[in-house]
Amino acid sequence: MRTAIVTGAASGIGRGYAVALAEEGYYVLVTDVDEAGAKAVAEELNRVGSGRAEALYLDVTDAQAVAAAVHRVKAEHGRLDMMFNNAGVFVGGPVEEITLEHWRIACEVMVMGVVNGVDAAYKVMVEQGFGSIVNTASMAGLTPFAFMAPYNMAKHAVVGLTMALRGEAGAHGVRVACVCPIAINTNLLTHVNGGLGGVPEGDFVGSLYERFGHYARYIPNFILMSPEVHGRKVLRAAERNRAYVIEPWYGRQVWWLSRLAPTAPARIGGVASRGVRAARPLIAKLADRLTA
Ligand SMILES: NC(=O)c1ccc[n+]([C@@H]2O[C@H](COP(=O)([O-])OP(=O)(O)OC[C@H]3O[C@@H](n4cnc5c(N)ncnc54)[C@H](O)[C@@H]3O)[C@@H](O)[C@H]2O)c1
Repeated sequence: MRTAIVTGAASGIGRGYAVALAEEGYYVLVTDVDEAGAKAVAEELNRVGSGRAEALYLDVTDAQAVAAAVHRVKAEHGRLDMMFNNAGVFVGGPVEEITLEHWRIACEVMVMGVVNGVDAAYKVMVEQGFGSIVNTASMAGLTPFAFMAPYNMAKHAVVGLTMALRGEAGAHGVRVACVCPIAINTNLLTHVNGGLGGVPEGDFVGSLYERFGHYARYIPNFILMSPEVHGRKVLRAAERNRAYVIEPWYGRQVWWLSRLAPTAPARIGGVASRGVRAARPLIAKLADRLTA
């Protein structure tokens, strides 16, 4: 039976990958720091999928635990076919209002979390002569957005490491893909600045992301894609050895435009930043009214 490990699989995009894998008959190790959530997903997969699933508490910042999970799958099943380094948190806000802790968490979870998964899985895959690593970056890893600097930094690192690894990995029979979603309907924006005790006081933009995140369910699928649809697309793309997977469709236009005019995102950010500052009281009032 083909096997896969998914990090951050209790929710959103990671759960979507796990669903797609189970539908295709994979054994899936569903991992997350949300142990109860991971168990619920594994139980769901064992009811509906043709594959098999198990849950595991796994913090991607713990390199030893990530390596142990990889070696467990290899030892128990004789192979590791796919590793999805996906766990992430949304860390954002105006740079003058965030703290060093925001930057540190972005690096630990989204950069070192991916590095830990790559380090453990790649070595096993090189030895067995096959395998596929899928790293979840973001459109924010291809183009910068104002008020998301720590997140942008981490996701640019993920794109860089993924593409460098892809160059090396082919010679060993290992495939590497970079997923750069722009808007998938998940819980990401309802837990802004995760692990920092919520949105710090005065983090105006962070609190706006969080409050508007609750409206996601009203946005149609072609704009805010469902994680299941996204998961199936990513699995198909990884099987075809695609380098980048960018969904929904308009993400590909955003990337194309940002390569055509590389400084445009920063200029747009400047306008947005001045606009948000000028209209801050008005936006706060509107947000209060909408989310009351
Ligand atoms: N939703 C989007 O539109 C979007 C866009 C671009 C990129 N992404 C990326 O997709 C990935 C998944 O996010 P999502 O949108 O599904 O959000 P989500 O909040 O629904 O899921 C993230 C999962 O990661 C887990 N997690 C957080 N820290 C962890 C840690 N240290 N170890 C293990 N698990 C941890 C959470 O418990 C959660 O279950 C993230 O890397 C995110 O940056 C999402």
